[in-house]
Amino acid sequence: MSLATRPETRPETLPPDIAAATIDPRVYAEPKRLDETFAWIRANNPLGRAEVEGYDPFLIVSRHADILEVSRNNALFHNGDRSTTLTNREAEALARKLTGGSPHLVRTLVQMDAPDHLKYRALTQAWFMPQNLRRLEARIREIARGFVDRMADLGGECDFVASVALHYPLHVIMEILGVPEADEPRMLRLTQELFGATDPELNRGKTLDLSTEEAVQQIQAVLTDFFVYFDAITQARRAHPTDDVATVIANGQIDAQPISQFEAMSYYVIVATAGHDTTSSSTAGALWALVDNPREFARVKADPGLIPGLVDESIRWTTPVKHFMRTATADTELGGKRIEKGDWLFLSYVSGNRDEAVFEDPFAFRVDRSPNRHLAFGYGAHLCLGQHLAKMEMRILWEELLPRLQSVEFAGEPALSQAVFVGGPKRLPIRYRMT
Ligand code: HEM
Repeated sequence: MSLATRPETRPETLPPDIAAATIDPRVYAEPKRLDETFAWIRANNPLGRAEVEGYDPFLIVSRHADILEVSRNNALFHNGDRSTTLTNREAEALARKLTGGSPHLVRTLVQMDAPDHLKYRALTQAWFMPQNLRRLEARIREIARGFVDRMADLGGECDFVASVALHYPLHVIMEILGVPEADEPRMLRLTQELFGATDPELNRGKTLDLSTEEAVQQIQAVLTDFFVYFDAITQARRAHPTDDVATVIANGQIDAQPISQFEAMSYYVIVATAGHDTTSSSTAGALWALVDNPREFARVKADPGLIPGLVDESIRWTTPVKHFMRTATADTELGGKRIEKGDWLFLSYVSGNRDEAVFEDPFAFRVDRSPNRHLAFGYGAHLCLGQHLAKMEMRILWEELLPRLQSVEFAGEPALSQAVFVGGPKRLPIRYRMT
């Protein structure tokens, strides 16, 4: 855009309590407070500048249209220049110290920009497309049936998160990655620690008041565990290739050279972690919403044709990935405001998915919402690689579970995890009748 047409107005600063709420993990565990916070931002200062002690200022991109705009302009808004999730100054400095200058402890697709991003994404893209995934349908259905049977065996009461939602997507992605079942508890713990680092119930330190140095070191320790584990898998798949994703990664070539060890490890980390916690959250979020909305439960039970709608709506409803960051690479304009090179943008998918300008009655859970243009998988070059897999897994589980689930109600207080990055239900006690 030419200088002459550049808007003069810079984003205005948000009230300190609102800015603080947007990055407070506890707020993410209280849906009403979270919704009110972002509804205020969308109505009053939709591209507000957040100034929070200890953090570099950042802009909260709260409107659906602005999130789309940023996400599809990958040259103008980079992923890799700074931390891709909100990080305070101390933690970013520590990451740079540990890595010798990079703000990233791993280098996955998420931390890459062109030209590398495309090259690395191309390695596995075809594997995750519907055409290839179709051959997994029967096996995934078998796994789903096993979980539904397990639920029936539990005798009418369980914590749906612990008994089904956590382990079903974990099992699927671990089979896809070639990790044996015996190692799944270890993988689950590692992911929870990585994503749930701010939830006192889920992290290693058992305290919310982690100093940032401790937090970064905790993540570093978790990553080291991952790396050691996957190094053995790489060696095995190079020696004996199979048809799993681990084989594709281990034998991947970038610019006609074998993928480096660090980048291969990072690839496993993103597939292993992004591949289940998110899907677990939206699976549990779906059942939570169905218990809360018996009419929707009755409708989708009566009409299995609504299951794909249930899947999409529960992903919008839960929005398991709460945000990603982008950095402006040049001066530009967004939502009528002037963006300057170096501005750090907080893409709030949580907010975009409740935007009144796009969703009719956004705070209602509707299995027949159509269209459902949610942003939970991001958009543009980084659009979720696993979206078809996630949707397929959820569809199959509901196809298997709903016909057998006669009634369901809460058997205790459900709870959400305290997480500003990836989170969802961490507890969902239910009482039910099954055939
Ligand atoms: C409901 C479940 C899921 C949700 C809500 C979700 C959400 C997201 C989001 C928001 C992004 C980032 C987009 C961006 O930066 O613009 C992403 C990227 C990614 N997701 Fe997912 N995801 C889910 C399931 C999965 C699964 C099952 C996999 C398994 C492979 C997966 C693998 C990835 C990968 C590899 C990326 C990085 C893509 C890139 O940067 O090019 N995700 N996902």
